[in-house]
Amino acid sequence: MNIGIDKLSFYVPNLYVDMTDLAHARDTDPNKFHIGIGQDKMAVSPVTQDIVTLGANAAAKILSDKDKEEIDMVIVGTESSYDFSKASAVAIHRLLGIQPFARSFEIKEACYGATAALQMAKNYIAEHPTRKVLVIAADLARYGLNSGGEPTQGAGAIAILVTSDPRILTIENDSVFLTEDIYDFWRPSYADFPLVDGPLSNETYIQSFGKVWNRHKEVTGQTLADYDALCFHIPYTKMGKKALLSVLSETDEATQERLMNRYEESITYSRNVGNLYTGSLFLGLISLLDISKELDAGSTIGLFSYGSGAVSEFFTVRLVEGYKEQLAVQEHQKLLENRRKLAIDEYEEIFTQALPKHGEAATFDDEILFSIEKVENDIRFYKEN
Ligand code: HMG
Repeated sequence: MNIGIDKLSFYVPNLYVDMTDLAHARDTDPNKFHIGIGQDKMAVSPVTQDIVTLGANAAAKILSDKDKEEIDMVIVGTESSYDFSKASAVAIHRLLGIQPFARSFEIKEACYGATAALQMAKNYIAEHPTRKVLVIAADLARYGLNSGGEPTQGAGAIAILVTSDPRILTIENDSVFLTEDIYDFWRPSYADFPLVDGPLSNETYIQSFGKVWNRHKEVTGQTLADYDALCFHIPYTKMGKKALLSVLSETDEATQERLMNRYEESITYSRNVGNLYTGSLFLGLISLLDISKELDAGSTIGLFSYGSGAVSEFFTVRLVEGYKEQLAVQEHQKLLENRRKLAIDEYEEIFTQALPKHGEAATFDDEILFSIEKVENDIRFYKEN
């Protein structure tokens, strides 16, 4: 049975910082951000957006009434949870109007969470081929003002509808995964921002890719030449490129050129958004599918998922006939074009705003489809415009 992605979309907040402005404000050469890190713009989330609204805004665009009747599970991959007990998926399930006899829960393992959700969705559909699973990857990637990780922040969500006989791509049964207990990036439960060992995180990412890729070759016999494109988790766009370059010498020149060209297409959206944590790999996939004119039905794409801590996975997806008709290219590009650029002092003010705590109340007004309307008694109330 073919199982995979039937619908796919993303949502990012409508505010961003230009990386040249950020570089000037931080007394840094703008080339460090544009070339060294590979980022041009960074999405900034207002206080009225959290993982629930980001996720609901991403999913609302793709779900039909029929989908909402046929979805049995809503799984949110996130590391930006605001509640240790109640899952954001429960609120997203209600906001989207999904039929009540569904499972809704969150999955956590840094940026890897949404891949775990996707594979769980695939297993469920194998047993229930007439049903659907909604996978959401939603995060606020925040390191703090003036921190080392600041230029690699971002925010946004991906929505993925997993079905049998999917209309975008099938997920092959070739996953290779790896777990290693490493402290490269982690966020203790008391902390607003993650603790990160930048150089170790870069090194662990590349080594993890090497390990899963080599094992994948051993297990499947596939080589780089078998792939039309590779997509990577993109914490910043230079990172995936470093991982790709670490293996390119094992293939012929034509394959090297093809994979590098497809890589550039896969990072176009991320360059203008930043890190989405769990969603970054899938934003790269959407960017590739939206932009590349070189892919077709049958094209194979290798996906490398990495979550600090660290869990990684390499697996293959295959595009199906007619996949282009399922893509919302213009809508995606409009979403990115219609954002408002923030001056650095505005960004810093928005960044430091926080929702009330300890039972205090506040109300908000935002024109976005789904947003936080008020907080009362430590409950977030959402509104739909
Ligand atoms: P840094 O110390 O600001 O930067 O840290 P750097 O000094 O390492 O320079 C970065 C690059 O810019 C270097 O290039 C410099 O040469 C270059 P490279 O050697 O890497 O090719 N550079 C310049 N280029 C052109 N013109 C210039 C110039 N100056 C310097 N003038 C770091 C950078 C990414 C480590 C930092 O921003 C950070 O800690 N970010 C957060 C951690 C991170 O993103 N790690 C990535 C791997 S871990 C991961 O992907 C998981 C994650 O998504 C979390 C999760 O799983 O949940 C983060």
